[in-house]
Amino acid sequence: LRKTALPHYNISPSPKKRKAKRFWLNSSPNPSASSERPTLPNLSFPHTPPTPAVTMAAEQSAEHFRGQARLPGFAAPRRYDLRLTPDLAACTFAGSVSVSVDVAAPTRFLVVNAADLDVSPGDVHFAPKGSGQVLLPVEVTSALEDEILIIRFNEVLPLGEGTLVIAFQGTLNDKMKGFYRSVYELNGEKKNMAVTQFEPADARRCFPCWDEPSFKAVFKITLEVPCETVALSNMPVVEEKVNGPTKTVYFQESPIMSTYLVAVIVGMFDYVEAFTADGTVAPLPHYLPQVSLSLSPLGGSCWPHFPFAGTSVRVYTQVGKSAQGKFALEVAVKTLILFKEYFAVPYPLPKMDMIAIPDFASGAMENYGLVTYRETALLFDERHSAAANKQRVAVVVAHELAHQWFGNLVTMEWWTHLWLNEGFATWVSYLAADRFFPEWNVWIQFLEESTTGFRLDALAGSHPIEVDVNHVDEIDEIFDAISYRKGAAVIRMLQSYLGAEIFQKSLAAYIKRFAYSNAKTEDLWAALEEGSGEPVKTLMHSWTKQQGYPVVSVKLKDGKLELEQTQFLSSGSEGVGQWVVPITLCCCSYSVQQKFLFRGKQDDFNLSGLVECQKKDDFWIKLNVDQTGFYRVSYDEELASRLRHAVETNILSAADRYGVLDDTYALCMAGKQKLVTLLHLIAAYKNETEYTVLAHAINTSLSIYEMMAVAAPEELVNMKKFLIDFLEPFAQRVGWDAKSGEGHLNALLRGTLLSALAELGHQSTIDEAVRRFNVFLEDRETPLLPPDVRKAAYVALMQTVNKSNKSGYESLLKIYRETDLSQEKVRVLGSLASSPDPDVVREALNFLLSSEVRNQDCIFVLRGVTAAAHEVAWTWLKENWDYIAETFTGHLLTYFITVTVSPLATDEKGDEAEEFFKSRTKASIARTVKQSIERVRIKAKWVMSTKGEADLGNVLKELAHKH
Ligand code: BES
Ligand code: ZN
Repeated sequence: LRKTALPHYNISPSPKKRKAKRFWLNSSPNPSASSERPTLPNLSFPHTPPTPAVTMAAEQSAEHFRGQARLPGFAAPRRYDLRLTPDLAACTFAGSVSVSVDVAAPTRFLVVNAADLDVSPGDVHFAPKGSGQVLLPVEVTSALEDEILIIRFNEVLPLGEGTLVIAFQGTLNDKMKGFYRSVYELNGEKKNMAVTQFEPADARRCFPCWDEPSFKAVFKITLEVPCETVALSNMPVVEEKVNGPTKTVYFQESPIMSTYLVAVIVGMFDYVEAFTADGTVAPLPHYLPQVSLSLSPLGGSCWPHFPFAGTSVRVYTQVGKSAQGKFALEVAVKTLILFKEYFAVPYPLPKMDMIAIPDFASGAMENYGLVTYRETALLFDERHSAAANKQRVAVVVAHELAHQWFGNLVTMEWWTHLWLNEGFATWVSYLAADRFFPEWNVWIQFLEESTTGFRLDALAGSHPIEVDVNHVDEIDEIFDAISYRKGAAVIRMLQSYLGAEIFQKSLAAYIKRFAYSNAKTEDLWAALEEGSGEPVKTLMHSWTKQQGYPVVSVKLKDGKLELEQTQFLSSGSEGVGQWVVPITLCCCSYSVQQKFLFRGKQDDFNLSGLVECQKKDDFWIKLNVDQTGFYRVSYDEELASRLRHAVETNILSAADRYGVLDDTYALCMAGKQKLVTLLHLIAAYKNETEYTVLAHAINTSLSIYEMMAVAAPEELVNMKKFLIDFLEPFAQRVGWDAKSGEGHLNALLRGTLLSALAELGHQSTIDEAVRRFNVFLEDRETPLLPPDVRKAAYVALMQTVNKSNKSGYESLLKIYRETDLSQEKVRVLGSLASSPDPDVVREALNFLLSSEVRNQDCIFVLRGVTAAAHEVAWTWLKENWDYIAETFTGHLLTYFITVTVSPLATDEKGDEAEEFFKSRTKASIARTVKQSIERVRIKAKWVMSTKGEADLGNVLKELAHKH
């Protein structure tokens, strides 16, 4: 963008003149549109974005608009006519946008977002409606830091409607945001596709616009593309016109929506298709026309009406791979039907396309009617995808489709309310997965989401669910475990407090009330409060407006239960937060559950039935029944040992077994429980039957093992023996080979167990892995190495690799290079850095920066670094930081920090990291750096407290020789 000043022209252009100036306003193929613009729907905007005093706008100077968190509200877009012409070979694009704008207050300025676009001042003009005038700006200033274009006119713009026209040029970048290129192979030839990724604030990198979620508008998109390509956007195609080697593709006008949901894709694809025939999930035959039943929500146009045809749902894949889209397609059709029922509002668009993109920054993106995915989150290969891959596809599809209502139809008013989008979609994706795959026990698996939320929120550097956002650079970092996982967990807590039916009905009312509009957190609480008659606002404010969560300490004293809440922090410090805690409680049996709101700091409770219950031999009390609440519980010694007994005898529910372990682990890390107590507790899970609980016990054990490598290396032999003895009986039961007809969870467990044994260096697991791997290397279809155990086998193989014997590493690279399945590539990448030899780890890390690894996949190699090499990875990160910081943005960049810094476990390393990032931090990584360093400090403290546990050696000796 160039800063320029132009003289002021006031001209009444003839249509010819307009054409000569490359304005394309009148070239629409739609006959009604070419002569006269359709009248705008009468849209009401529920918000008024904060503006510098509106009445003053006419007097302001361009300076007023700099350094503001949000755009001024004196003019708002109603309808965008957007035309884009990507050049896939040159990786550039040209475009023009014509925006119907509503000028609501006197102003000489129009201020829009734009970034990385080339706009010549002569390419901007404004035509007040009905005036016959075209106003040219006197000055077009681009404020680079604010990513805005300040367009100044010589005179005050007339109030009411007008059309802002801007022509621009840009680059199809390689950063996976804005309008970007992704590279694929077709018939052995490398090709580019053009893809958009606009959330949170990168639509401005594709076209000048009001790039904030509350400026909703209608979009009419036109693409000029090579004839042989498939061109997709949010809405169905209305017409294609071929002109020589290119074609112009006209899309239907969208309902009003936010800019971050606009999408455009151009490339070569195949697809599979099905329809949501109302009420059934059977796909309709392909020959039926792909049309929608519904009227446009604007009531403007109407699509043909065919009996039995529902919404067209397609999964687009690379050419030749459409069969891999079938599983996602089936899930999508079922999900759309379920959500239509659940939200009591039909899916708002005439079609739903989902597409796998080879280069993709996040997991998936919910663009309205055109959802984009990483290949691993959408494609499923019957022979080479694992059970975990299948579950991932189902959950991601359900999540993105949930956004079509929660996010797209009802949109957050500002990024402070991002959690409404993400927390809700996360929660409801489990609801859908549970409905379609009840045997997966996803609500138990959901506890892993809560745990990740708990861990981040136990840092002083966490943030409230409703978080202030003052600059666009801060937005990326709040797509984190607080918005997603704590968000989902507090929704679950509320749902379980209010009851499923009231919750669903109130949600449906909320969706109806705010459809085609924007909402804030409070709006949701109001709907739920109305629907339930409960004090939802008071209850929930304590969870969304302050960071952190409580640990409720429970003591049994004189037949009474004493409760006290304090803010839980992993550092062991006490925070000052206080919550309204929905306590649930069971005493000796699940048949009677007690519930109450705990508001104070401290209280005593007389429990009915407590006295009788206390007399029983197997007396136990469990708070936070089934772990539906977002709080931890710390029991007095007596109650804790009773619970351990209840775990051992399998009296508790799976969710409660999970909770007892997770709380104890967290308390131990914070120095509130002894490590030996935690180790005894882990031993109580030796007969565990639930996959998620056992997997959690395994992960907890491995993390203790990692910490002990620093704190008590002399105890590692016994620790290893204890863990291997603990795992072996399970591993023998599940074996290496899938049993016919066995369940999904068994398949997941097999991989988890074998990976853990491999990481612990269990020799017979490693030998068996190598034996099977060698067969697989010769025959990729061998039944000896099914997809569910491949990652474990690769990790095991890497235990045998060192710098003088690298054949295992080379074989893995061969598999990586030969497969065309992304999930297989990810399995290999995830194992490459798990050799115990630092030189091999370095080589793997260097490989991740090579051109052979897509930038989107680098993270998997880093995640595979094992305890032995955390410091190698940290040194490597420092050496390569400049390149990394230049090459990666958003999450891809912050991941490098989280994964590499957080595992360090000494204060010395913490100081080093602090020093290193002091001069290298910037707004987009500041939060992550702070959190990662805090995690190092916490680990270091845990190491110190472990060193002080005098009986650790004896207890481990005892545990290691028990079996
Ligand atoms: N809206 C997000 C995609 C996104 C993430 C955009 C970060 C911009 C920044 C999408 O709905 C999402 O949440 N995707 C998840 C997958 C989901 C199943 C948790 C992701 O990308 O990891
Ligand atoms: Zn999401």
